[in-house]
Amino acid sequence: MPESIDLAAFPPGFAWGTATAAYQIEGAVAEDGRSPSIWDTFSRTPGKVAGGDTGDVACDHYHRWQEDIALMKQLGVDTYRLSVAWPRVVPGGDGPVNEKGLDFYDRLIDGLLDAGIKPSVTLYHWDLPQILQERGGWTVRETAEHLASYASVVAGRLGDRVTQWATLNEPLCSAWIGHLDGVMAPGLTDLTAAVRASYHLLLGHGLTAQAVRAAVPGARIGLVTNHSPVEPASTRPEDLAAARRMDGHINRWFLDPVYGRGFPTDMRELYGVELPEREGDAEIIATPLDWHGVNYYFPVTVEDDPAGPIHAREIRLPGVPRSGMDWQIDAGGLETLLMRLTDDYGVRELYVTENGSAFPDTVTAEGTVDDPERIRYLEEHVAACARAVRKGAPLAGYYAWSLLDNFEWAYGYDKRFGLIHVDYETQQRTVKASGHRYADLIRAHRSST
Ligand code: NOJ
Repeated sequence: MPESIDLAAFPPGFAWGTATAAYQIEGAVAEDGRSPSIWDTFSRTPGKVAGGDTGDVACDHYHRWQEDIALMKQLGVDTYRLSVAWPRVVPGGDGPVNEKGLDFYDRLIDGLLDAGIKPSVTLYHWDLPQILQERGGWTVRETAEHLASYASVVAGRLGDRVTQWATLNEPLCSAWIGHLDGVMAPGLTDLTAAVRASYHLLLGHGLTAQAVRAAVPGARIGLVTNHSPVEPASTRPEDLAAARRMDGHINRWFLDPVYGRGFPTDMRELYGVELPEREGDAEIIATPLDWHGVNYYFPVTVEDDPAGPIHAREIRLPGVPRSGMDWQIDAGGLETLLMRLTDDYGVRELYVTENGSAFPDTVTAEGTVDDPERIRYLEEHVAACARAVRKGAPLAGYYAWSLLDNFEWAYGYDKRFGLIHVDYETQQRTVKASGHRYADLIRAHRSST
């Protein structure tokens, strides 16, 4: 282990894990009663996903889950973050339950527990049933209510074995990238729709937290959000103000209401969109949580930009390292975020629910995958977590994104985030050097505590 990682900072029982999401790995999109989701529709729309890729087969995890659990066991992880596909469990969006869909997760959870791996279940990782999109999707209130009903069904079935629950994954992406940038499903470019969607996602989060708590005594409920620390491009007042707006857009908008501060006033004014608020909603959105999950990939630097809805534009800093996604690599950003959630928002139990990097990996003639850049990324970010823990962040676990190479949304299969390489022709899995390194790190921490 490189000496730069202070593994002793992590308490005994610190949870080392890997994460995935249903649509990105399962495939089997038309099996056992699953209905189409907005991602089936979006990926079939020409020009939306690189290479015309879809999640039709993905990593075929729906059929290969036993092999994938064996691989996790080989890595030695304590925990696995997975998501349940709403269109498998309640194909109509609301109403009748599809037992066969639930059976899949039932088997998966049993398999994980048999392997000594603790599941952490995310209820919504972007695969909204298409039928609900046709009724307005996240722009209408009913979708928030349907999410909570579907969540009660899942919690009722798995709650005897699953204690760790997340309501949503990255509402920022569903709202802003899906409804404002149009780069993710459902592919809208409409500020009003985006703001309404963000509101209903957070309302759905609160209703779901309450529904799971009612269904599962002792459940530990959290929310997973993604953030980037924002730096101004210069000390010009215009750039400082732009950085404040960007911070409002990607950080405060999704944290302030959840932690009881309401939606930030400066951003309400900037968006100029009336929120579909009803009495009591603010309390629902701020339902107390047991933990918070943060997904971190990169920081951003912004300058003032008269164009665009928030008048701020991301700039490319010259000479900084970048991943295969062209995202800036800066582990210090993770430490900053963990400290902000601890000190500013008062979070009492934190997880890094995703962190990782894509690089164009290949399998060598010897059958290995050598990915030194991903190893460096992993080590630097775990080291940043250790620094945050030393400074008092209540970090209880770290999940590497991702267990497997998988369907990277609008980028299709071109971007590989896995600790395990997937050959999509043969579905052959190969543990990358970074996967072996992660296993060593987990072992080293365990033997030191
Ligand atoms: C965040 C998302 O939750 C996940 O689905 C995605 O693959 C990773 N980031 C990498 O972009």
